Amino acid sequence: MKITLRPNLYFGIIFCLFLNSFNSFSQSNSKSLKKAYQDDFLIGTALGTQHILEKNAQADKLIKEQFNAITPENIMKSEVIHPELHRYNFDLADKFVAYGQKNQMYIAGHTLIWHSQLPRFVYKIQSADSLKMFMEDHIKTVAGRYAGKMNSWDVVNEALNEDGTMRPSIFYKLLGEDYIKMAFDLAAKADPNAELYYNDYNIEQPAKRKGAIAMIKKLQASGTKIDGVGIQGHWSINSNNIKEIEDAINEFSALGIKVAFTELDYTVLPNPWDLKGADVNQNFEADPKMNQYKDALPDSVGTKLANRYSDLFILFLKNKDKISRVTFWGVNDGHSWLNGWPIKNRTNYPLLFDRDCQPKKAYNAVMQLKSGQ
Ligand code: XIL
Repeated sequence: MKITLRPNLYFGIIFCLFLNSFNSFSQSNSKSLKKAYQDDFLIGTALGTQHILEKNAQADKLIKEQFNAITPENIMKSEVIHPELHRYNFDLADKFVAYGQKNQMYIAGHTLIWHSQLPRFVYKIQSADSLKMFMEDHIKTVAGRYAGKMNSWDVVNEALNEDGTMRPSIFYKLLGEDYIKMAFDLAAKADPNAELYYNDYNIEQPAKRKGAIAMIKKLQASGTKIDGVGIQGHWSINSNNIKEIEDAINEFSALGIKVAFTELDYTVLPNPWDLKGADVNQNFEADPKMNQYKDALPDSVGTKLANRYSDLFILFLKNKDKISRVTFWGVNDGHSWLNGWPIKNRTNYPLLFDRDCQPKKAYNAVMQLKSGQ
């Protein structure tokens, strides 16, 4: 008896020690996205006003534990920071920057020139000269104020149409394509140390990607400083675009610039444009088919989301030498803009943390990729 028990006992002790060390490794690693990915790329999140003001202790703890990069979700957009021609409102932006500095986070500015969320006075501008004056004053004042504190700026946001041509925004209509160069040059002058990014959605898709590459090449040829491209990454769990994303990483990186994923989320709900043949006059808000997980996320959908994130992060890790940052567009599911867009008052589940700031299956899937190393 004794002779047969002993080897089992030794084996048991060794096995327990092994399990213990494995557990403590995976536990310490499983606590934090930013720690798990510290040798790969930055892991960011978008902060809303409540996060900047540290109103919610649970979310605040989560942000500090999990993320090492922050982007302001809305408060640096021109309608907030520059509401009137001669009035700036730096209150929240100052607090946002202070939050990042206090917590030693990478601070990404979003965004200097964008056709959306513009102050009302800009929509009224009719001459090229006045618009140019707005751009000069805006970029000099905003990027200048935070010079030396920001790590990067999304200098121009969403300048392209889906076919890769220039979007007919107020900037394009009054100033032509030159406004892009103008914006980057002004930003470089106002803050010579910040990395300057062009940011857009769907630029992983071939036609729009081609337009972005042509635009970036033109900037480079004219001697303008551009350091990176931000692929927003607002995707659906029903889209299968890993190949396009990989092609985009390689093609953008071949231009000698950094690639960041700046606004990552996966909607689990249908979009109106997914429904081919849908009656455009249909009232989507009232249609329960458009909000089918009102009470809870079914396990199968949670798994599908986890698989999407897992495939994506496998690709990110494969290309980590080209990727500077991966930022989620929001802290947790309850905070996500996808509860209100493109249809109001829905219950969406696009991120890694649930409404109680608890890690979801998708979080575990992303962490799992690093647990074996
Ligand atoms: C969104 C915010 O998340 C919302 O709160 C706001 O109402 C609208 O804008 N592309 C961008 C982001 O570059 O600034 C947008 O953020 C989402 C799409």
